[in-house]
Amino acid sequence: MPPPIAFELRRRTLLASSAALAMNAGTGTPAAAQEAATAGSDRTRVSLTVNGQPQEVEVDNRTTLLDLLREDLHLTGTKKGCDHGQCGACTCTVNGTRVNSCLSLAVMHEGDEIETIEGIGTPEQMEPMQAAFVENDGFQCGYCTPGQIQSGRAVIEEIRAGIPSHVTGDLSAEIAVTDAEIRERMSGNICRCGAYANILAAITQVAEDSAQGDRT
Ligand code: FES
Ligand code: FES
Repeated sequence: MPPPIAFELRRRTLLASSAALAMNAGTGTPAAAQEAATAGSDRTRVSLTVNGQPQEVEVDNRTTLLDLLREDLHLTGTKKGCDHGQCGACTCTVNGTRVNSCLSLAVMHEGDEIETIEGIGTPEQMEPMQAAFVENDGFQCGYCTPGQIQSGRAVIEEIRAGIPSHVTGDLSAEIAVTDAEIRERMSGNICRCGAYANILAAITQVAEDSAQGDRT
């Protein structure tokens, strides 16, 4: 049976009074505590470079990098899939390293250089990974594709930089671009259409082309 209304009110009054007393005992007067609470702002101005363009945006402190890109800068190429770091649709690069932008607060990126899918090529002038995805049919609905392309580019750079993965056998040898290496490093990018075989083909093609370019 629910408690009588009078009891509920008395209980709320008691809780409010207790909170006020606790504030008074711990950090000073309630007035001082209130002043401290209002001194901080819940919004912050962030200056960063996105696709080579300097940007200054005032955001709610809780805004993710993904929402800053999509909602404030209207760069909707970076997709929101799970918003929990589980699908990779939101992958973009920060200072050259791939990140899940849904897991990163915008206020952490003061002075950073961000690159999104809009910054790496155009439909008329695709960069090699974009062209390889088209050539190999590396997508169906395309929702995961910006994140796949960003991750695919980063995977090649990570292998070239000698950064080992979970499946790298010999840590002292040069890392080979194998299917297993690519699959493992792309495992954070989910494709609900299941275009994995063609995504693998696209990344392998770019890796081989760039290795050949290095040799000539
Ligand atoms: S939207 Fe960021 S990992 Fe899924
Ligand atoms: S192409 Fe549809 S989710 Fe990957």
